[in-house]
Amino acid sequence: MVEFKESIRKADGVLIVTPEYNTGIPGVLKNALDWASRLPKDSVLIHKPFAITGATPGNGGTAQSQAQVRQTLLAMDAYTMPGPKVLIGRVHEKLNETTGEFDDDRTLIYLDRFLETFERLDPDLR
Ligand SMILES: Cc1cc2nc3c(=O)[nH]c(=O)nc-3n(C[C@H](O)[C@H](O)[C@H](O)COP(=O)(O)O)c2cc1C
Repeated sequence: MVEFKESIRKADGVLIVTPEYNTGIPGVLKNALDWASRLPKDSVLIHKPFAITGATPGNGGTAQSQAQVRQTLLAMDAYTMPGPKVLIGRVHEKLNETTGEFDDDRTLIYLDRFLETFERLDPDLR
């Protein structure tokens, strides 16, 4: 936990890539954020820029999981990039079977835009 918090403290920003469990945030991710937020006065999450994306085999593309991560980070006074939102549904149809990498052009365009926006976030927020 000490190393985990230190890696967040040193980072310019944190990218969360999450699955969705039963229309919500996976318990291990919630647990990790809860531990990282302690003690609240010295929390490494305060004003830390976050971006959230995720992929599911279902159609929803982690919409509800991402919304819950956003809610959790808001409670922790972190800053979450408002958009663009990238929700990757039916992910198993968008991956190259040999390399395991995305070979879906639209997904790659959305991911590029997402990462470029996160890189360009106001430096005062970092
Ligand atoms: C308990 C549990 C619930 C899940 N619920 C959903 C779901 O509601 N919709 C969905 O598309 N995928 C669901 N999945 C699949 C995950 O989104 C994910 O694709 C898969 O678990 C791989 O990620 P992981 O290895 O990090 O668990 C669920 C998986 C688990 C283990």
